[in-house]
Amino acid sequence: MNSRSSRSDRPDQTAEGAGAGQVMDILFGHWRTELLLTAVESDLFTHLSGAPATAEELAARLGYRLPGAESFFVGLVGLGLLETEDGRFVNAPAAEQHLVRGRPGYMGGYLQFCRRELNPSWDGLGTALRTGLPQNRAAREGNPYHSLYEDKSATDLFLDSMDMFNSGIASHLADLDWSRYTSFVDVGGARGNIAHELASRHPHLTGEVFDLPPLESSFTEHMAALGGAGRVSFHGGDFFADPLPEADVLIFGHVLHNWGPEDRLRLLRSAYAAVRPGGAVIVYDPMVGDAVPSLYATLASLSMLVWSNGGREYSVDECHAWLKETGFRPETVALPDGVNEVLVVAHKDR
Ligand SMILES: C[S@@+](CC[C@H](N)C(=O)[O-])C[C@H]1O[C@@H](n2cnc3c(N)ncnc32)[C@H](O)[C@@H]1O
Repeated sequence: MNSRSSRSDRPDQTAEGAGAGQVMDILFGHWRTELLLTAVESDLFTHLSGAPATAEELAARLGYRLPGAESFFVGLVGLGLLETEDGRFVNAPAAEQHLVRGRPGYMGGYLQFCRRELNPSWDGLGTALRTGLPQNRAAREGNPYHSLYEDKSATDLFLDSMDMFNSGIASHLADLDWSRYTSFVDVGGARGNIAHELASRHPHLTGEVFDLPPLESSFTEHMAALGGAGRVSFHGGDFFADPLPEADVLIFGHVLHNWGPEDRLRLLRSAYAAVRPGGAVIVYDPMVGDAVPSLYATLASLSMLVWSNGGREYSVDECHAWLKETGFRPETVALPDGVNEVLVVAHKDR
């Protein structure tokens, strides 16, 4: 077989075919996601954990029908989430670690939040690009969190995912020098994961979480589960309508990127009024550099475009500029390589 006929036998190897393959690969990305999300929805990986199963047995556990179910399981093998041993399906290591309910690294909460909340907004990307408007009703009416919190199980799934994202930065926040401060408020601090870490590592601190009132019951449950009830208190309120509680340090973690520039400035002005002289505001968000942002940061920004009211991933320079405009003296804290966050501490003079 000469090289010419070999190329035409395998069109995906020609320059033209490789391009078509690239396009199809992007399309298949959507279908791969559907396999993953459907498996998480049925809790397939939890059913399989410690209990390998044939296709028939697994289909029976999930209430699925063959032969479609077998194709589904084989597809999950293709994705690297399942493996086969002696004719039975077992979880691959990543699935066992992150997709089995109850494991500390469980990501199912975030995946289900994406399926229910975020992905439907992505269907309106074209409209969002034309209008600049978010594609979910609650965000268009003001705050996307309001409708989310109407459903307690959706709320808890969302809070699981927030904690998955904030646990990476929690220890770095706790590593800062807290000796000169006595109090902090985690603004938009959700169910108190970060606040609990800070209060546990620095028992001299009095901590408060300021967040929307519907989160209070999830906060109470989470504190009881962590064994920290009483160390941190919950202060329900709306940071656009109510003054922020006074403290030495106010924290805005994964909050500013949810909102447009004017709202960010409003929040930082409100923080300046609440931080005591000599205190500080702490901001963490993924933040993009000045170079061309990574595809990850770009997708995160587009997620914000379709789901939030004006949010996007902003740059470190922009963050410093807003903080200076509000009256703070910002500095970026160096974090180890591999941390997908930028941490900025901004001081208020005495
Ligand atoms: C993306 S989450 C970040 C949670 C947490 N700080 C973290 O780092 O994981 C944004 C938080 O802001 C809160 N939030 C949104 N709008 C708010 C408002 N108007 N007033 C108070 N909190 C609000 C949400 O309830 C949510 O807990």
